[in-house]
Amino acid sequence: MKLRSSYVCQQCSAEFPQWYGKCPSCGEWNTLVETVKEVSKSKLQISNKFQNTNNIPQKLSDVKHIEKNRLKSGFMEFDRVMGGGIVPGSVTLLAGDPGIGKSTLLLHVLSAIGGMYVSGEESGEQIKLRAKRMYVDGTNIMVLAETMLEGIIEALVKWAADGMNATTKLVVIDSIQTLSSNELDGMAGSVGQIRFCAEELVTFAKSRGIPILIIGHVTKEGEIAGPKVLEHMVDTVLYLEGERYADARILRTLKNRFGPIEEVGIFEMKEIGLKEIANPSEIFLQDRVKNVPGSVITVVMEGSRPLLVEIQALVVVSQLAIPRRVANGFDYNRLQLITAILSKRLGLPLGTHDVFVNVSGGLKLSEPAADLAVAIAILSSYKNIAVDPKAVVFGELGLLGEVRRVGQEERRAKESKRLGFTNIISPEHTRNLKLAQHLLE
Ligand code: TYD
Ligand code: MG
Repeated sequence: MKLRSSYVCQQCSAEFPQWYGKCPSCGEWNTLVETVKEVSKSKLQISNKFQNTNNIPQKLSDVKHIEKNRLKSGFMEFDRVMGGGIVPGSVTLLAGDPGIGKSTLLLHVLSAIGGMYVSGEESGEQIKLRAKRMYVDGTNIMVLAETMLEGIIEALVKWAADGMNATTKLVVIDSIQTLSSNELDGMAGSVGQIRFCAEELVTFAKSRGIPILIIGHVTKEGEIAGPKVLEHMVDTVLYLEGERYADARILRTLKNRFGPIEEVGIFEMKEIGLKEIANPSEIFLQDRVKNVPGSVITVVMEGSRPLLVEIQALVVVSQLAIPRRVANGFDYNRLQLITAILSKRLGLPLGTHDVFVNVSGGLKLSEPAADLAVAIAILSSYKNIAVDPKAVVFGELGLLGEVRRVGQEERRAKESKRLGFTNIISPEHTRNLKLAQHLLE
């Protein structure tokens, strides 16, 4: 067996015959790692060609609609984010920070559908403990504690061939970073290993029509470790986010070959696992203290649903030459912009004040529709006047202090009213930041 050595970039997975300090492909520094590769092709039990590929062209009208075959977990928030359930033979990557609840979420899904839990992270006993906590009895779940790809594929092939085994439905891999193959020399978690293992899993899923959910950890920079290659190989990429010490968890779709990508699912981490939140605004508003300066309620669109969240601001005289701007859950550059607009258009002396902005519940806002609420929260804290507790504020801020229209205004207003907020400050009536000031008089 010949061995070949190559240098693989851990960031972009480009391969080179020699080492470079800077990856010639993606330009990152110190990312090339020597990987010894056997020249012979994989000898795994499944061939690289999809075995049930049907090469005969077919009328589009005759193509079977995948909708019917989807596996439903009955976990509405999860199924909706997946586009209506799990498509047989599909591969989904669930990414998120360690400890956020990925294993918990997939154990819920697995217990509803039935299937195999492959864990390289925990022993069967540890998984049992989690299941017990979640009141999952586990009669329809097989557990395999294994990190070698060859062992896993062998077990899966055997299990899938076990006739009409009632549990042959779904495979969960926890996590891709713990897997490694004998075929490669790199350590578990290296780009080469991740790519190779994922490839084999994808082949298994497609050839048997058994869907696989793969857990992947995310690096500090927010990248799925063992990077972009993985995102390209799978059908669906989900991202579970939230603050570790807050209860709300948001499941987003970053990519979905079988459904829309703008849907989000919202959960709450409880003692007994993740609970679906049918009325998400309530969880984001539950800790709210009324009549305190610096607090403003806004409404953002998460997927197709309006969501009410509290924005808090704190403005204090700065002790520093360059005052601080801290944004939690809100874009830092947008906060800079809003403070500049407030200084210029309303004459607020923010150049001598520190400004802190926080979005409650660990939510990260990406919509400019929250601009006006952030501005009013800052103004409210600066003036030390509380905003009407029945007010909801939304609208995008322009550089001239104008309030710009945002999408779905009607739905935002409707949801606000439904939750008892009757004073709606929106672009429809408030065309300028100056006009919004009346909230604080
Ligand atoms: P886990 O699913 O292990 O996270 P991940 O797989 O993303 O690393 O769950 C992480 C945290 O959730 C853990 O700190 C404990 C907490 N947790 C609960 O609060 N309630 C529960 O029912 C479970 C199972 C976990
Ligand atoms: Mg885990």
